[in-house]
Amino acid sequence: MKAVTVTGSGGPEVLRVTEVPDPEPGPGEVRVRVYAAGVQPVDLAIREGFRPPGLTVEPPFVLGNEFAGVVDRLGPDSGDWKVGDEVIGFRLLDSHAELVTTDAAQLVAKPAGMPWEQAGSLSASGQTAHTALDLLGVGPGDTVLVHGASGGVGTVAVQLARALGATVVGTASERNHAYLRELGAVPVAYGEGLAERVRAAAPQGVTAAFDAAGRGALEASVELVADRERIATVVDFEGAARLGVRAVRTLRTAARLTELVRLWEAGGLRLEIAEALPLERAAEAHRLVGTGHVRGKVVLTM
Ligand SMILES: NC(=O)c1ccc[n+]([C@@H]2O[C@H](COP(=O)([O-])OP(=O)(O)OC[C@H]3O[C@@H](n4cnc5c(N)ncnc54)[C@H](OP(=O)(O)O)[C@@H]3O)[C@@H](O)[C@H]2O)c1
Repeated sequence: MKAVTVTGSGGPEVLRVTEVPDPEPGPGEVRVRVYAAGVQPVDLAIREGFRPPGLTVEPPFVLGNEFAGVVDRLGPDSGDWKVGDEVIGFRLLDSHAELVTTDAAQLVAKPAGMPWEQAGSLSASGQTAHTALDLLGVGPGDTVLVHGASGGVGTVAVQLARALGATVVGTASERNHAYLRELGAVPVAYGEGLAERVRAAAPQGVTAAFDAAGRGALEASVELVADRERIATVVDFEGAARLGVRAVRTLRTAARLTELVRLWEAGGLRLEIAEALPLERAAEAHRLVGTGHVRGKVVLTM
């Protein structure tokens, strides 16, 4: 099969689309023919040499931790999945390829009407947003500030917070303000003077903040939110330790992914695809994500 292989630590130029052996599903695993797989900032960080906790891999290896596709082969004891089932799934690496194997418990059924590009880029950013809002205990009566509201994580966070009954203020550049309004957030520009602009946009006060942007978002958040237990970042772990707010790593489960799929089915979750590129253009996909200004997601298609 073809796969996007990281040949060394460095920029997008270390990526090569190569022929590698087809993976075989082991006990409890399912093999999926991948149709679409999202690219995330963490893929770029791993390409450059960063290793999240629990990952010790060295080049050459294949990136990609979310995907959607069709069940292609079953390992022993892999439960009720059938060859031909359309699924959405996640794992730590290996999904930027034509075939991926995964634990059968890390798959959920893809709704028939969900476009492949959206399905393939839901399970990472979506579950990150879900994890953070869960830990923050967001609910009716809250006014939530979402930093980086137009990105892959922020797009889902805004809509989840709205679905949970909260009012949402979201930060993005002017270019994305109409988009944020469509998602249900009051848009505010980031940068110098942010706290003042948020106060003007939410005179009732902000009760929780979710940082999916870094770059000073936590400093503004502690000015605005009284309870530091109700401030979370998935980006700025150093700032979280310094300011005594929550540092959140995504906790991905099939149950969490199912909730996101249900929200999509109910019409409450718009998944924005900035660009869908064929596997062969993975380096270009990495360069786009690397700009830090993608609206929604960049996704590879196979
Ligand atoms: N801890 C975890 O488990 C975990 C899991 C997943 C993701 N993450 C992290 O979460 C962050 C968000 O990821 P993402 O996939 O949504 O992509 P991203 O590339 O970080 O976000 C892109 C968005 O950020 C906005 N943006 C850029 N600079 C900003 C600023 N100073 N303030 C507010 N918004 C700004 C951009 O809007 P404009 O174009 O309008 O500027 C763009 O829409 C990344 O840092 C990622 O590494 C962490």
